[in-house]
This record gives sequence, structure tokens and C-alpha cells, in this order.
Amino acid sequence: MSFTRFAERLSVRLWPLAVANIVANIGIVVTGAAVRLTGSGLGCPTWPRCTDDSYVTHPSMGIHGAIEFGNRMLTYVLLVIAVLCFVAALGSRDRRAVKYSLVVALGIPLQAVIGGITVLTDLNPWIVSLHFLASMAMIMVCLALLDHLRSPTRPEAPASARWLALAILVNGWIVLYLGTVVTGAGPHAGDAEAKRNGLDPAFLSQIHAASVYVLVALTVTLLVVALRMGDRWLTVVAAALLALELFQGVVGWTQYLLDLNELLVALHMLGASLLAAGFARVWLATRAHVAGEQPTGHLLAWASGTKPSDPDRIDATF
Ligand code: HEM
Repeated sequence: MSFTRFAERLSVRLWPLAVANIVANIGIVVTGAAVRLTGSGLGCPTWPRCTDDSYVTHPSMGIHGAIEFGNRMLTYVLLVIAVLCFVAALGSRDRRAVKYSLVVALGIPLQAVIGGITVLTDLNPWIVSLHFLASMAMIMVCLALLDHLRSPTRPEAPASARWLALAILVNGWIVLYLGTVVTGAGPHAGDAEAKRNGLDPAFLSQIHAASVYVLVALTVTLLVVALRMGDRWLTVVAAALLALELFQGVVGWTQYLLDLNELLVALHMLGASLLAAGFARVWLATRAHVAGEQPTGHLLAWASGTKPSDPDRIDATF
């Protein structure tokens, strides 16, 4: 079978592959949390080899070696999914889908290199922060692909909503960045010997939480604006984002008060990944979009002002 034929056949799987892409990119953040929280960050002490003379871990490297090596191997799973998604996008001849899926496919080796630098710098907290934030950017691109493939047709939102959504996106990045700075100051370095950034974790936690309050206030304002405009789609995504922010805020405070319980920290990292997707979704919801596929779920159809099976959906606007 020629490559073109294979790509065209695979194009019918573009949606599930795009979903798999975002699930895998969020999944590796959680397994990365397991590496850090079990103190396995230097389980393989070098990179790209695991030890100076082997690419794989050895039983003598113990559980930390197995955890870190297992996480490294997941990179290949992500790469296979991302490449298949890219090929499916090529087969669909959808330029924007090609662009987004290519960025994800190229981002994975780049992240592997940043992960390698993390190890080679003995888990320097600023590099760990960069590694985490790069994953957040990848998740946002994965979300942009999903949004492009399936979200309601809509005109560009009025300037007030667009500016609020942009402010949420920018503030969201500030919250994510400050979170990584708190982590860099705290005890979960990924290895008992790794250096910390030397800042005061309690004080930084307060700054991080304060930036979250600004974020929540902006999201509530956007929700009110969306309701007053009668923009169903923006209302749905802003309400979902607000619910997620509140949940994440409760997890954040609880982990802070419980001296950074490992399970809660991992949950907080999962929440941060979902929120990264949410910030991107809210911003995209204020941009004009013409849907390429029929909405399948009731929520999407309701937000489009159509029935799930309505063939006239593409012309529907709010
Ligand atoms: C929208 C809400 C929030 C988001 C998106 C968020 C995001 C983040 C991120 C990205 C990290 C770094 C994860 C890592 O580097 O592995 C982090 C760490 C942290 N966050 Fe938040 N956070 C939020 C709310 C809060 C709140 C309200 C608190 C309350 C004090 C809080 C407390 C912490 C603490 C203590 C850490 C450090 C955990 C550690 O040392 O392992 N967070 N947060």
C-alpha cells in the first residue's frame, strides 16, 4: 500500500488519534509526577543512556531506575501516537490539522531533550520548570487540534469577551509558572541530593494562590459576559473552566496544609494539565470558527443551536 493510500485510510481515525494525543500528553505529566514524587528523578543518572555503559536500566539500579526508565520509554508511545495522528492529518488534507499535529510530533523529541538536560543538570529546578511548562504548551496544541476538528461554528466574540479570554490565557500561564517556582523551592525535587531554587516555599505559595484568585475573578467575569451575550458555547467552556479552577484551588490549599501529600501533588499536576487545556479552549471559544464535522454529542449540538443529527448544522450560528 502506498503512503498516500495509508494516510487516506488513516484519516478516518484522525479524531480518536487526536484524542489519544492529548490523553498521552496529559498521562506523561502524571507519570512524570510519579518520577518526581518517588524521588526517582536520577534513577537513570545520565542521558541519553541510562547508565554510562547501558541504554537500559539494570536490576541493581532498583525501583528508582525502573520508574525513571519506564517514564523514558513512554516517550516512544507518545511519539508513535503523534506520528500516526500527523499521518492521519496528512491523509485528511486538512492544513490546520497537519500544522497542529506536526507541532506535537516535533515537540515530543524536543521534550525528550529537555528531559535529558534535566537529568544532566542534576534536576536543576529551573530546567524542571521548563520541562513541565513545555508539556503544558504541548497540551494546549493538542487541544487546539481537538477544537479545530470538533467545536461549534461561531463568529468572533465581541472585544470584551476576547480580551477577557486572552487575559485568562496569560494569567493562566503566570499561575502555571509560579506553581513550578513553588515546586522548585519545595521538598519534592526528584532526588534527595538535588538543589532547590533557594526561595521561600511558604511565601511563594501565597503569591501562587494570589495569582489564582485573579484568574478566578477573570473567569467569573467572562462567564457573566458570556451569559449576558447569550453565547452558549462560551458559557459552557467558561463554566467548565471555573469548576476546574475551584477544584484545583481546593486541591492546592489541601496539599499545602497537609505538607505536600504526594497523591495530592500528583492530582494537582493532573489538574494543572487539564487547566492548560481549559485556558486554550476558552481563548479559542472567542475566535471565529467554521465546524468541519457534524457535532456528535448533545452538548456540542446544543451549543451549536442544532440537533446532534441536524445536517444543516454547518450554517448554524448563534
Ligand atoms: C488554578 C489553580 C492552580 C493551578 C493551575 C496550579 C498550578 C500549579 C502548578 C503547575 C504547579 C507545579 C507543578 C510541578 O512543578 O510539578 C503547582 C504547584 C503547587 N501549587 Fe498550585 N495551582 C493552582 C492553585 C493552587 C492553590 C490555590 C494553592 C494553595 C496554596 C496551590 C499550591 C501549590 C503548591 C504548594 C505547589 C507545590 C507542590 C510541590 O512542591 O510539589 N496551588 N501548582
